[in-house]
Amino acid sequence: MKKILIHLESDSQASVFDQITAYDAGVDQVLAYGGVRIEEVTNLVYGAMFTRGGEGLRNTAIFIGGTHVPTAEALMKKVQDTFFGDVRVSVMFDANGSNTTAAALVHKIAFGRNLHGKKALVLAGTGPVGIRAAILLAREGCEVYLSSRQIERAREVAKHILENNGVQVIPVEISGAKDVPGVLNQGINIAACCGAPGAQMLDLPTWSKASSLEIIADINAVNPLGVEGIKVTDNGKEREGKILYGAIAIGNLKMKVHRASVQALFESNRLVLDFDSIYELAKKTEA
Ligand SMILES: NC(=O)c1ccc[n+]([C@@H]2O[C@H](COP(=O)([O-])OP(=O)(O)OC[C@H]3O[C@@H](n4cnc5c(N)ncnc54)[C@H](OP(=O)(O)O)[C@@H]3O)[C@@H](O)[C@H]2O)c1
Repeated sequence: MKKILIHLESDSQASVFDQITAYDAGVDQVLAYGGVRIEEVTNLVYGAMFTRGGEGLRNTAIFIGGTHVPTAEALMKKVQDTFFGDVRVSVMFDANGSNTTAAALVHKIAFGRNLHGKKALVLAGTGPVGIRAAILLAREGCEVYLSSRQIERAREVAKHILENNGVQVIPVEISGAKDVPGVLNQGINIAACCGAPGAQMLDLPTWSKASSLEIIADINAVNPLGVEGIKVTDNGKEREGKILYGAIAIGNLKMKVHRASVQALFESNRLVLDFDSIYELAKKTEA
């Protein structure tokens, strides 16, 4: 029986990236649907549920993508609400690469280390990747600070994380470079830069002087990079006495995690791969 992945997203054109990655993970056929509206989900999911019964169900899975993460979250909920009993297929959520990127970022930082009691700052942590990375770092035992250019936005995200994930993060405002030293001086050990493409969050004089800072990771691959002086290929490279992970090193791990997650979908018909379960899979991958 062929392994079929049903790709659903709200963007008008279904992601080429996600489809190629699915084939590279060993999927036989991707059925890609772009421009999916919430009211169309039920029928699409019925097509997956009612074609291959029993053991055969594991050969069909659903992938939720798209660049607009909140809309994708609504699609994900609708997909799960459509299933009943054992009549279901496995589902993976990775809208805008948010889950696989956050899992790869945190796995790079945590691999071979005990993060309990460390203070981690997620810079520009209000986007989909930053939010997920903050939760995963907290679950690794870190005290997590999450920054935004506006304190209200950081507070709103911290409240959302507490209410939805039971995780406490400390909101901080970093409206420009002048605010960074004050936050780093609170004893920050780990800085994870999750800003939008081309947004520089840390300048070299500031991070090199921050005495408590041990590890810096940056997922922004677009110049200027999130961290001045980092190289995208840095993969645990020591510079100025700090350990650095750049966007390509993290991105390479992200690709491995993405493929491993798609492969796992076909092991059973009831897997739900969201950021936490994708992180558990990432932990089985060598960082
Ligand atoms: N390496 C990889 O494999 C990979 C994969 C996927 C994504 N990414 C990268 O991961 C990063 C995060 O993705 P995302 O989707 O979570 O990002 P995002 O939502 O586009 O941006 C994250 C946060 O950046 C802040 N921001 C936006 N413009 C800014 C500016 N000009 N200066 C300073 N801060 C700014 C915003 O926070 P506030 O408004 O609250 O300040 C925003 O919430 C992006 O750089 C993306 O390209 C990398």
